[in-house]
Amino acid sequence: MRKYKAIYSVLFVFLSMVVFSQNEKESPVYKNPKQDIEKRVDDLLSRMTLEEKVYQLNQYTLGRNDNKNNIEEVLKQKPAELGSVIYFNNDPKLRNEVQRQAMEKSRLGIPMIFGYDVIHGYRTVYPISLAQACSWNPELVEQACAVAAQEARMSGVDWTFSPMIDVARDGRWGRVAEGYGEDPYTNAVFCVASVKGYQGKDMSDPKKVAACLKHYIGYGASEGGRDYVYTEISAQSLWDTYMLPYEAGVKAGAATLMSSFNDISGTPGTANAYILRDILKNRWKHDGFVVSDWGAIQQLRSQGVAGDKKEAALKAFTAGVEMDMMNNCYDMHLAELVKEGKVPMSMLDDAVKRVLRVKFRLGLFENPYTPETDEKERFLLPASLKIAEQLAEESLVLLKNENNTLPLSGQTKIAVIGPLAKSRWHLLGSWAAHGNTDDVITIYDGLETELGNNVQLSYAEGCAFDGNDTSKFAEALDAATKSDVVILCLGEKKDWSGENASRSTIALPKIQEDLVMELKKAGKPLILLLSSGRPLELNRLEPLSDAMVAIWQPGIMTGKAVAGILSGRVNPSGKLSMTFPYATGQIPVYYNARQSARTHQGNYQDIPTIPLYEFAHGLSYTNYVYSDIKASATTIKRGDKLSFEIAVTNAGKMDGKETVHWFITDPVSTISRPVKELKYFEKKLLKAGETRVYRFEVDLMRDFAFVDSTGKRFLESGDYYVMVKDKKIKIELVD
Ligand code: NOJ
Repeated sequence: MRKYKAIYSVLFVFLSMVVFSQNEKESPVYKNPKQDIEKRVDDLLSRMTLEEKVYQLNQYTLGRNDNKNNIEEVLKQKPAELGSVIYFNNDPKLRNEVQRQAMEKSRLGIPMIFGYDVIHGYRTVYPISLAQACSWNPELVEQACAVAAQEARMSGVDWTFSPMIDVARDGRWGRVAEGYGEDPYTNAVFCVASVKGYQGKDMSDPKKVAACLKHYIGYGASEGGRDYVYTEISAQSLWDTYMLPYEAGVKAGAATLMSSFNDISGTPGTANAYILRDILKNRWKHDGFVVSDWGAIQQLRSQGVAGDKKEAALKAFTAGVEMDMMNNCYDMHLAELVKEGKVPMSMLDDAVKRVLRVKFRLGLFENPYTPETDEKERFLLPASLKIAEQLAEESLVLLKNENNTLPLSGQTKIAVIGPLAKSRWHLLGSWAAHGNTDDVITIYDGLETELGNNVQLSYAEGCAFDGNDTSKFAEALDAATKSDVVILCLGEKKDWSGENASRSTIALPKIQEDLVMELKKAGKPLILLLSSGRPLELNRLEPLSDAMVAIWQPGIMTGKAVAGILSGRVNPSGKLSMTFPYATGQIPVYYNARQSARTHQGNYQDIPTIPLYEFAHGLSYTNYVYSDIKASATTIKRGDKLSFEIAVTNAGKMDGKETVHWFITDPVSTISRPVKELKYFEKKLLKAGETRVYRFEVDLMRDFAFVDSTGKRFLESGDYYVMVKDKKIKIELVD
């Protein structure tokens, strides 16, 4: 009996082992969704060949790229093992075909990740990022990004190359349109909002995408505002100006980053081990991956730090760029570099793990395919349009409003003039993804619907965007003369900003300025609507106008939002996220400059030294009255709690939303600090006659301390000032 028992036991163990290894064959750990992601990553990695590993680190394009800077034809030859593609199409079917190849034809069935530039909306295009920041409404921006994520993921995109959080202070640079302006804190706040909107709590949600912080780092410091060129960034400004938004984005869980094109004081961003490895991976413990910008690895040759593509691959990879976007450097050379011992296998493994980790987090192994839904189920949903409309409304900035020219009241004849009055295309802004001109409500149409039959609208183009053809001036002047008020829609073309779209001056072309002078002859109130992807030089137009509104590039809901503001249905609440210089020659000009040695001297001889419109400038139709600032204490010690309050009263007749910006100044410190630094902001709705209290809870280390050139924070004793508009309070920090 005992003998039989022993035989049975041995048989049982043997059979269990057979069944287990059979199961294991059928369902290895990496395919088991119940397993921990790290275990799945390790298991998959352990099964991969060198070549399979290298393929995971490459990204090709699929579909026709319509970005004229990165033209690439439909992908013809693509290995099934490829890690990623940029997906220019918006049809889930094509994605699924390609993905099927990866899932079924590759040995291990590793899904590809499909990336795309979803920068300010996918099909429901909302305002450009520079404008979004003028809303000072991060919750709304989060909602807008969630709309973009839903439309994109349902169309086959898993990963957006957004947000761009390059602090930018030179309006000539075309890419200022893509970021949140000149201030590090503002960029940090909107960065976090957009990461939350894109990724949500769980990226495997079929309506969420992975985010990508870009362009790491300092791209916005391009010399002369030219794209792709050298940037001179000291270690000190690297930390106190450029790092904050990235650190915030990494903390918020951004899955990926993109390495930048620019040369950072001698070491290009794409070969910069200090920022990519020491800071991002070692200090901040980012466990996702870094993708190069398009062609940025091979461009290390043009930048003079690599002799050939192989060396470029070696430099970028060892610095910490895990994925090669359209360089053919890693697919051609990485395996060879590993075999030669120049790239350690452990480094390759770490890179592959990072890419796989993001794919697992996106749920791509479980759900590699996109449900093939109809466009109607994905795009332009009523709730999405509402968000795009509100964001457009809140991002418009009323720059000037003399004699309460706005809102319109009682006029029955309105002339709508200018090259942008009936434009659709230019209001979409750069990087408009799958934005469709048919979806755009023009300014003219928006006004017509808003103002109804009681108002007679006339239209004249007046002039083209540029050139010197004045032949349409007369018709425009005639329309202006016959009207009660003139709405003049001027500004930039869509492709005057964005990538590779620098301008030497940020003034409007002379023909547009001449049109304003011409229409002045009609003697009617002139309202200028200015659409642009950057701040503008307005010193010649300002005196000619009665009211001016910076409308940026507001996206598909432009007409509705503009009409709402002009009619007074909506009270403007936008405030500038970037300074409007008096003239281009003032650039760089930004509110948070460091103090000059002589504040009473050093001015320009030919133009004013102060900008025309400062950061945070923006008017409303109501009148807000600010109390003095109240502090919980004026003398404090380290570790003490500190908070401030200010009461704001809406003393006008119209409800409005008011943003309070809290700045600090540290007049004497070991390093010279900016004259003012934004530390907190909050926007609240104030009903007419209502008073509300705004509160700023201080974290001394975060808000009063300074960061040094290594990223260390120091809190020094001494005097600090906390400021809101012209209100100021002194705080003494004692030891
Ligand atoms: C180049 C741009 O610099 C970057 O922002 C973009 O994400 C890539 N091209 C991909 O289109």
